[in-house]
Amino acid sequence: MSALKGQRALVTGAARGIGRACGDALATLGAEVICVDLTLPKPISGPCFQADVSDATSVKETFAQVGPLDIVVNAAGILIEEPTLDMGVDGFDKQIAVNLRGSFLIAQAALNNMAPHGQGRVILVASELAHLGRARFAGYCASKAGVIGLTRALAREFAPNILVNAVAPGPTDTPMLSAENMSPETLDLEADNPMGRIGQPSEIAAAVAFLAGPGATFMTGQTICPSGGAVML
Ligand SMILES: NC(=O)c1ccc[n+]([C@@H]2O[C@H](COP(=O)([O-])OP(=O)(O)OC[C@H]3O[C@@H](n4cnc5c(N)ncnc54)[C@H](O)[C@@H]3O)[C@@H](O)[C@H]2O)c1
Repeated sequence: MSALKGQRALVTGAARGIGRACGDALATLGAEVICVDLTLPKPISGPCFQADVSDATSVKETFAQVGPLDIVVNAAGILIEEPTLDMGVDGFDKQIAVNLRGSFLIAQAALNNMAPHGQGRVILVASELAHLGRARFAGYCASKAGVIGLTRALAREFAPNILVNAVAPGPTDTPMLSAENMSPETLDLEADNPMGRIGQPSEIAAAVAFLAGPGATFMTGQTICPSGGAVML
């Protein structure tokens, strides 16, 4: 299990949930993992930073301290469930700022970091809801569809040396998927896929590890969907 030995990975959203599982998976494959989150994460196998992915200064200051990177995973994200007719612009803007602007800022910083050594992998986290849409999730779906477009644009601009891909997970067992965050109607829908269950963070991290690893050398601009078959493209 040393496919990523000697490689350095930075993972955002690494305090918990999918980001944490991505960090664990990359470390298991031998990478040094630098953890970044709004809440200072516990170390996995490298230093940790408190940063806000939606804030250009915070992202710049963090990347100034990390040294050369081979892999960057942006898993930081937020979700707000709200009926569209009640939705203020603040909630919409907040989701665009964290999920889409954050993906842009982290990807841009990653590409700047990787450009001098001319190779690397950037992996963004979208959502199955970018493909499916969902009532009361207009801001979230729009932000995650933007992440897929961003992935494709960056993949074309930075091929063949830096590969940019995304994962679009289905419902995954993390604090995001909780009664505090979602209505009972939405939670009832979550296991509505051919596999009849929600995913585990490790199952999303496995897709991220594939995109970061030696098996994905001919992949760029792709969005792969570990979603129990909810999305079939
Ligand atoms: N859990 C799911 O069902 C699911 C499904 C599809 C996509 N996703 C996406 O996967 C990613 C991870 O989600 P999760 O389920 O692990 O959520 P989570 O809420 O459990 O964890 C998200 C992490 O991101 C961090 N974060 C939030 N805003 C941040 C910011 N501005 N700057 C830095 N860090 C910030 C949080 O502190 C938290 O540690 C998100 O992008 C989410 O949209 C989750």
